[in-house]
Amino acid sequence: MNVKKIYFCRPKKKIEMDNNIHPVFDRIIQRSDKEKKLNQKAKVIWLTGLSGSGKTTLGVSLEKKLFNNGYLTQILDGDNIRSGINKNLRFTEEDRLENIRRIAEVNKLFINCGIITINCFISPTEEIRRIAKEIIGAENFIEVFINAPLSVCEQRDVKGLYQKARNGEIKNFTGIDSPFDLPEHFDIEICTDINSIDESTKILYDFIIEKIAYKEQ
Ligand code: ADX
Repeated sequence: MNVKKIYFCRPKKKIEMDNNIHPVFDRIIQRSDKEKKLNQKAKVIWLTGLSGSGKTTLGVSLEKKLFNNGYLTQILDGDNIRSGINKNLRFTEEDRLENIRRIAEVNKLFINCGIITINCFISPTEEIRRIAKEIIGAENFIEVFINAPLSVCEQRDVKGLYQKARNGEIKNFTGIDSPFDLPEHFDIEICTDINSIDESTKILYDFIIEKIAYKEQ
C-alpha cells in the first residue's frame, strides 16, 4: 500500500492514511471569510486544571460574558464529551491521550468555522497539553491554568469523586493515584481559591478580548 501520510494517534500505535482519502480543505469556504462574517477571531481557550478547580464554572461564565458581548463560542467540557463522542474512553494514560487528541481535532473544526472554543479538560500532563497545542496550532491556542490546590479541590468535592477515589471506589483519579503535571507553558494562570468566580471571569475576559478582536488582514 502506498502511504501518503503517517500521523500521530496513540503513543504505541500509528494510523496510516492511504491514497484513497482525498481531503477537500482547499474547496471549502475559508476560515478568514467566516471570521469576517462573525466579526471575531477564532481562538481555542484551553482551561487545564484539577477536577474541581473551577474549569467548567469559569468556562460557562466566560461564555455568557462573551455571548452577551456579541461573540459566538462553543464550550467543550470533559464530562459532556465523555458522555458522547468519547464515551468509549476511560482514564488510562492511553485513553486520556486519545480523549484529548479527538478533542483537539474537534477544536480545529470549530476554529475553521470562525468560532471561539472554550475547553474544560483536566488535560493532566505536559505531553497531553503539548499534543493538543501541536494539533490545534500554537497560534490558535491560549493555555489557561486554572489553579486551585488539591486540598481545596478535595474539600470542594462538588461531584463526590475525591471521596470515592480515597475510598478506592475510583481508580486512576487525577491528583490521587494518577498524575497532574503542573503546567509550565500556560499563557495565564487563574487562582480560583483566591479570586471569586466574577473576578476570575473578568481576569480571563480581559486577557482574551484583544486576541479575539477581528482585524482585517
Ligand atoms: S482528562 O484527564 O482526560 O483530560 P476529562 O477532563 O476529559 O479528563 O474528564 C474529567 C472529568 O471526568 C472529571 O471532572 C470528573 O468529573 C470525571 N472523572 C471520572 N473519573 C475520573 C478520573 N479517574 N480522573 C479524573 N476525572 C474523572
